[in-house]
Amino acid sequence: MLPFSSAFFFQPFWSAFADQPPSLPYLSLPPTSGRPSFLAAAFGAFSMSGADLHLPQLRPLGKTSRTDNWWIAPLLTFLGLGAFIVYSTWAAMQGVNYFVPGTHYLSPMYSPVLFDSWKIAQPSGHAWFGAWPSWLPQNILGMLPLTPAFLILWAPGGFRFTCYYYRGAYYKAFWADPISCSVGEPGFRGKKYRGENSFPLIFQNLHRYFFYVAVIFIGLLSYDAIMSYVFIKDGHHQFGIGIGSLVLTINPICLGCYTFGCHVFRHLIGGRKDEMGEGGTKKAYDCVSCLNRRHMMWAWISLFWVGFTDFYVRMVASGAWHDFRLI
Ligand code: FES
Repeated sequence: MLPFSSAFFFQPFWSAFADQPPSLPYLSLPPTSGRPSFLAAAFGAFSMSGADLHLPQLRPLGKTSRTDNWWIAPLLTFLGLGAFIVYSTWAAMQGVNYFVPGTHYLSPMYSPVLFDSWKIAQPSGHAWFGAWPSWLPQNILGMLPLTPAFLILWAPGGFRFTCYYYRGAYYKAFWADPISCSVGEPGFRGKKYRGENSFPLIFQNLHRYFFYVAVIFIGLLSYDAIMSYVFIKDGHHQFGIGIGSLVLTINPICLGCYTFGCHVFRHLIGGRKDEMGEGGTKKAYDCVSCLNRRHMMWAWISLFWVGFTDFYVRMVASGAWHDFRLI
């Protein structure tokens, strides 16, 4: 039997001599029922099947002739995304230590604070609409604490969840269907699978709208970064630079590199044009393309830094870490 690449190479040639398309050799075929041709006899390559060949023809789960370490990327994605989901859910459920009194440090997982958490005794100074209102429940289903984080995390979470890069990564890593190119799949999708053209995955197409919300969040987090250079001493505001200021400043930069490398933004700038001229639009398109080429890298860096920024604020707020002041 020929390896896959050889079969692929011969396919158009074969088609000129047979009235049925060739079957790829890795597929599990029904017994040969078609007419053999001299090419089949010469190469012993293909089984001629009748019209009863149905695709996809699945291999057993994990079976492949690939010799590279194809499983490393899905495994790392599973571990990395899994760790972030566990940490961010835990952090969102806390409802405390999301700001540092005496500074303007605010965790990005709680920003913007619509209402202060019902778990804190004193106002944080960050809430847009004041204290937790009585009409908002404090728990979901009587178990999961509802905190200010859950009121806003749907937006950046939805943006990441529907990101084109993350989709490809977590489809492979979390439900392994597909798990990787030319590797056997579990077949969860079944024969009725229509991808992102039908429910429920059609909701992935909301990504283009999440992009606009994500841009607003970049603005809000940039404001938080600027305010992190303002400290409160004896009731007065004064300029200063703490390690936390730097941590909070790096955060919107990383998020900006991720967000503005989005495929949606690239399409918004140049996707409707047949040709890209010179000038500002071309420069903007090149800039977005440059970020877009490293979209995966920025996706991971920004994800890590959001988690680390929350962790840093949480540690300083709880008194476990001291925020070293440079100025
Ligand atoms: S494609 Fe990844 S953020 Fe839009």
